[in-house]
Amino acid sequence: MTEPLLIRRAGQLLTLRGPEGPRRGAALADLGLIRDGAVLIRDGAIAAAGPTEEVERLAAEERGIREIDAAGRVVMPGFVDSHTHLVYGQPRLVDYEMRLRGADYHQIAEAGGGIQSSVRAMRAAAPEALEAQARRDVQTFVRHGTTTIEAKSGYGLDDTAEMKTLVVLAAIESQPLEIVPTYLGAHMIPPEYAQNPDAYIEWMCAEMLPRIRRQRLAWFADVYCDRGAFTLAQARRYLEAARELEFDLKIHAEQFTRTGAAQLAAELGAVSADHLEQADAADAAILARSPTIATLLPGSVFHLGLERYAPARTLIEHGAAVALATDFNPGTSPTCSMPMVLSLACSQMRMSPAEAISAATINGAHAVRRADRVGSLESGKQADVILLNAHDYRELPYHFGVNLVALTIKNGVVIYEAGAVSAAVPKESAADAR
Ligand code: NIG
Ligand code: FE
Repeated sequence: MTEPLLIRRAGQLLTLRGPEGPRRGAALADLGLIRDGAVLIRDGAIAAAGPTEEVERLAAEERGIREIDAAGRVVMPGFVDSHTHLVYGQPRLVDYEMRLRGADYHQIAEAGGGIQSSVRAMRAAAPEALEAQARRDVQTFVRHGTTTIEAKSGYGLDDTAEMKTLVVLAAIESQPLEIVPTYLGAHMIPPEYAQNPDAYIEWMCAEMLPRIRRQRLAWFADVYCDRGAFTLAQARRYLEAARELEFDLKIHAEQFTRTGAAQLAAELGAVSADHLEQADAADAAILARSPTIATLLPGSVFHLGLERYAPARTLIEHGAAVALATDFNPGTSPTCSMPMVLSLACSQMRMSPAEAISAATINGAHAVRRADRVGSLESGKQADVILLNAHDYRELPYHFGVNLVALTIKNGVVIYEAGAVSAAVPKESAADAR
């Protein structure tokens, strides 16, 4: 049992309350904003979120309540980052410098870098080292206001290294971030199957997917469908087998080449199609008519120094449900910062600040199928809340590269509080020195 908590006097309380289902079209900009709002938290859940006066009346009956004065600042749901590759071992700094000298993503991969170099490192890594890496990065997520992440395997590929990754994810679940695990065995063709990727797909379908399901180590199955990875036919085979086993589906779709993976996602009823940099209006129209969420990852376009971002406006205007995520990974998007992703979404993809916030909270929650618990501040949901050092939500994307998060609360517990900056030397001694 956690102590009851009242957060009062939020200048802008973004509740993100609203109808069931992900936000689409004009509704994406609806933040359910309450001026001078408050949130009452009991037993880790939201007991009430509304005007301060109303919520304070309810709180008056509560004994031993702890109060947090938002003092006019913004209070909103924690970010739900629905696409990360949390466990990866080592950063890829050699690749990074190669790219800055002009090599592209596929040239780096052909030269022995890229995903394959992470695979070599992951296979060699001790589980303790991987767990330490993941725990460190989880802290960075929390400092940037994220309270739930999806996390993929996919840098091990073989039996031992994939299992090692999924076991690390299980070990750090709720420590303190909520983690939704995904099996991404179909991330890359492993070296031992270089001549026979179909056999690798069949092995995953026959061995890995059923075992992971049995052991309840992942809820989603994901595949990277692109040049240099898996074909559309291979993606279909793998996803159909996963669906048969009752995995929910995700696809890395239309990142570098347009393969038809977005339309496959819609056809198979995938929960999300992620990336979509090369998607066109026909893809947008099909996604709009499907439940599949279009998850956009502008961090990877930015980090790779590319120009073509996903067509967010086309997707929104057609009525697709758009989510935003970091794609945190060592190759294309080494950031844990959802605020930075929001800045990119606004400046580079012309999303409005309100649209970007919905995409990063409630629609992200739908993209991990946890919208019944997270992504908005509504009574009965988990108390996953952040307080910003800002009085207007538009400041969140506006101050790019800056962390405005003052407080992160997970399940009603304050798990992060931004520290004060102290004076280097007391004022008097500074004056003496002059
Ligand atoms: O989402 N493109 C495939 N997967 C990752 C990159 C993985 C890597 O380069 O390590 C992505 O961008
Ligand atoms: Fe990814």
